[in-house]
Amino acid sequence: MGKGDDESGEERPSQESDGSPEHCQTSHHRTHPRRDRLLSGLKDDARFLKNWASKPLTTGAVSPSGKALTERMAETVNIQSDLPVVELGPGTGAVTKALLKRGVKPQRLFAVEFNPDFCKLLRKRFPECNILQGDAYSLKKTLKDHGIEEAASIVSSLPLFTRPLADRIQLINAALSLMPKGGEFIQFSYALVPPVKISELPHGSELTSSPWIMLNLPPARVWRYKAT
Ligand SMILES: C[S@@+](CC[C@H](N)C(=O)[O-])C[C@H]1O[C@@H](n2cnc3c(N)ncnc32)[C@H](O)[C@@H]1O
Repeated sequence: MGKGDDESGEERPSQESDGSPEHCQTSHHRTHPRRDRLLSGLKDDARFLKNWASKPLTTGAVSPSGKALTERMAETVNIQSDLPVVELGPGTGAVTKALLKRGVKPQRLFAVEFNPDFCKLLRKRFPECNILQGDAYSLKKTLKDHGIEEAASIVSSLPLFTRPLADRIQLINAALSLMPKGGEFIQFSYALVPPVKISELPHGSELTSSPWIMLNLPPARVWRYKAT
């Protein structure tokens, strides 16, 4: 579970200081950063749970990904290229935040999210990023509608195993064809096997996986399909 979002994207209630050192105070504003972060994380958990209860197959998780997992997702993203970095299924922004922390410029980041409530929150939380409401499985069309025909890296938290194998193959193949040689389609999953075996991909690719990230609940692995 991720409990670390600083930018809640929400109005903060006025607060009283209890005099403890973690409270910053000016003559007009008092903030409680640790409490705000905790509250923001709890609100994200509640949002996820609500969306999972009504759309379990699309939401795919009961809570946002934790920091250990999101940092692992972001660690090999290409931050040198001028091409866009595409994120699929940003949810409440746990991976988005890790991508920005890694050094992806917000203007370069294009996040495709299906759920309109999550899109609204993401636009508030990450006003400089490009939040595209649309279907990640129609990847080329969704990106082309926004003028994107190439990407440096594509980072996905989509719950791929809720879709048939043919859809997964089509998505990964489309993603690889959008990237130059060396570009990676990065995907996490909680499963023992990769979402698509390398032998099932018609487009040339190499596949590697991270060790299990036990600090995430549930433990997850990051799969990297590299365009060759
Ligand atoms: C497991 S959650 C991951 C959220 C976030 N990235 C994280 O790691 O905490 C999957 C996200 O994918 C989104 N999603 C599912 N199907 C989608 C689709 N076809 N197109 C775009 N987003 C989709 C869901 O709405 C949800 O926000």
